[in-house]
Amino acid sequence: MLTESAASTLPSVSEKLRKAPTMESKPNLLNETTSRVVAQEEPTIFEISQPGRVGFSLPPTTIEETAPAAKIPSLLLRTDFSGFPEVSENEVVRHFVRLSQKNYSIDTGFYPLGSCTMKYNPKINEEIARIESLANLHPFWSSSFLQPALAVQYQLQELLSEVTGLPAFTLQPNAGAHGEYVGLKAIKAYHDAKEKLGAPKKTKIIVPDSAHGTNPATCTMVGYEIVPVATGPKGVVEVEEIKRVLSPEIAGIMMTNPNTCGLFETHIVEIAKLIHSVDGLFYMDGANFNAIVGRIKPADLGVDVMHINLHKTFSTPHGGGGPGSGPVGVREDLRVYLPTPLIVKNKSGYEIKEQGPENIGRVSGYLGNFSIHIRALTYMLSLGSTDDGSTYLKKMSSAAVVNANYIRHRLKDFYHIPYDVLCMHEVVLSDEIQERKGIKTLNIAKRLMDYGYHPMTVYFPLIIHGAMMIEPTESETKETLDRFCDVMIQIARECEENPDVVLSAPTHTFRERVDELRAQKQPRLRWTPLVNSKS
Ligand SMILES: Cc1ncc(COP(=O)(O)O)c(C=O)c1O
Repeated sequence: MLTESAASTLPSVSEKLRKAPTMESKPNLLNETTSRVVAQEEPTIFEISQPGRVGFSLPPTTIEETAPAAKIPSLLLRTDFSGFPEVSENEVVRHFVRLSQKNYSIDTGFYPLGSCTMKYNPKINEEIARIESLANLHPFWSSSFLQPALAVQYQLQELLSEVTGLPAFTLQPNAGAHGEYVGLKAIKAYHDAKEKLGAPKKTKIIVPDSAHGTNPATCTMVGYEIVPVATGPKGVVEVEEIKRVLSPEIAGIMMTNPNTCGLFETHIVEIAKLIHSVDGLFYMDGANFNAIVGRIKPADLGVDVMHINLHKTFSTPHGGGGPGSGPVGVREDLRVYLPTPLIVKNKSGYEIKEQGPENIGRVSGYLGNFSIHIRALTYMLSLGSTDDGSTYLKKMSSAAVVNANYIRHRLKDFYHIPYDVLCMHEVVLSDEIQERKGIKTLNIAKRLMDYGYHPMTVYFPLIIHGAMMIEPTESETKETLDRFCDVMIQIARECEENPDVVLSAPTHTFRERVDELRAQKQPRLRWTPLVNSKS
């Protein structure tokens, strides 16, 4: 809860709310972006099953001799189908279509999930990834057969080098966190090699407290001790803080830029110089590259190593834990430490080249998540260049930043914004104003679902009280942003005038509020039939 003195510094929203647009209180009908979730309980396919029901029946075959089944040895032929669902074709179709409609996706509505960059995935990416000659390749074919695939990957590496300024790239890592691991292993290999030649032992990595949770986890996995530094009053790391912890044992810094408060680390150049002064390396977590790509080359800021989340910046799909790709770029003298093999170009074409003895080893089966590489490259090439010769990536990142600032501007009278300065691709609000009415971030997020939106990211970053992190991305129209802001203002009004409606939300969704604590502590991980139980 807020202290009394802190509460008195917060603005009163009631006056502002009187002038703000109003909406009817029939949430689900208000939003044309609502995913039209079928509001009925869906049994499992086993529960629909009825003995003897079949999906289709064909007349007996007259070509048994050549039918594939005839060639399967009887020993291997299944005769007992008990336990399989027995359902008609239309039941199967309806069941799975209904399930698919329960999903919320970027194709069904605005997805303001901060830190995740849920931008629209253009369908041309899918078209290209499905081209047979690319989709049907086998990774064990010889590299002469794989030339088209290697060309795709090589070109992607080259473009990533161009936009980051880092000359050497590996596409092997299959996620952002995987990229962090590879980057830090390369940093460790670099220092280990120098220590063998008599350099001081490096044991620590500086990690700001606004870091993505994967950063400290990665440092620990690689065997480094973490030296935390606090974010300053302006939401960025101050130079003095770095000077305070600088020592010869510092192996480097791991800094997310733009950081998880959605702000550009304004002292990054000076901080990089300080890190280099103790022969440390600068690792930039480039997962938020969407905000600056095309405008700034991280190498120009002093960055030595960085990963990029292709699934955030370059419009490839996100899934639960994948399918992702987190390529890592390094400065030239660190190339030897990248995982083996690398894709290189020589006079006769593209080659899968094993690295020398310094490499950190293979980190992925084959050459990474190839179909994601195709999609990312398609996205970059399909944007093309602007008249002045720069790429449309610059326009894209600018639009992402403008959209986030538009939301910041529209909501700042109704929600507390801890760092109310020009933000990058995402804006972070807090629940400090609404807390006076006993309403917390979680309630606001749940109420947003009543209006048909996927909630924003909540309680992250940890350093912001009741954080609500909103990332609109560049893909959205002004009308979509306005509608979302109108809903957020309406919720702010409800918090003032009718707090119970927010506290009990969601009430217009297929599932009402679930007991999240119980779901965490006592998860039911095994399905047991509710009807037609045979066991
Ligand atoms: C700043 C930052 N770093 C690292 C990651 C980890 O990426 P991944 O989820 O692909 O492992 C994310 C994920 O969104 C991120 O936002």
